[in-house]
Amino acid sequence: MRANILEVAYSADVVAEFKSAMGRFAASITLVTTVDDQGYPHGLAATAFSSVSMDPASALICVNRNASASPIIKRSGLFCVNMLQSQHEPICRIFSQSDLRDKRFIEGEWKTGVRGICYLADAQASIICEVVQEIEHGTHTVFIGNVIDVITQPLEQPLMYMGGRYRELRG
Ligand SMILES: Cc1cc2nc3c(=O)[nH]c(=O)nc-3n(C[C@H](O)[C@H](O)[C@H](O)COP(=O)(O)O)c2cc1C
Repeated sequence: MRANILEVAYSADVVAEFKSAMGRFAASITLVTTVDDQGYPHGLAATAFSSVSMDPASALICVNRNASASPIIKRSGLFCVNMLQSQHEPICRIFSQSDLRDKRFIEGEWKTGVRGICYLADAQASIICEVVQEIEHGTHTVFIGNVIDVITQPLEQPLMYMGGRYRELRG
């Protein structure tokens, strides 16, 4: 019993410290999009994105199971990662607030890419992936996808997030 109490206290400390540490991790923000059975787009703002391998070209995203786009990605087996420019802060806010969900694809210039998935026309890059593996861990699902298409634009200042607020890269 005593060991359990210690374990809970330790774990709460670790969570707080982990959150605080992650606040020091400067992340480039993306909009992850997907498409439903009727062809409607869905999405969320996400920093949990990484390349996985170049052979095969593949990437991963970590999506909270409560996010409205999570079951849609599971069903379609598709996701697109749109890397944002600093000027995209307003649209990013829309993609990170549940009460603005209905406005997500009204702002910005959206185009339809392979397999009917939407990409942001002026994103730094849009990477379209087909899901090959799903790993459930804690509150999130890790989706690993093979890259099926890539759209790139000229290099611009990225939209960053650190210490709980949006930032720009200097220099
Ligand atoms: C900077 C930033 C980064 C985020 N990164 C992620 C992420 O990597 N994965 C995730 O599931 N949610 C992430 N979120 C939260 C989702 O964008 C947010 O919960 C969104 O509202 C979920 O979509 P829904 O409201 O349609 O469920 C992030 C939010 C912000 C502001």
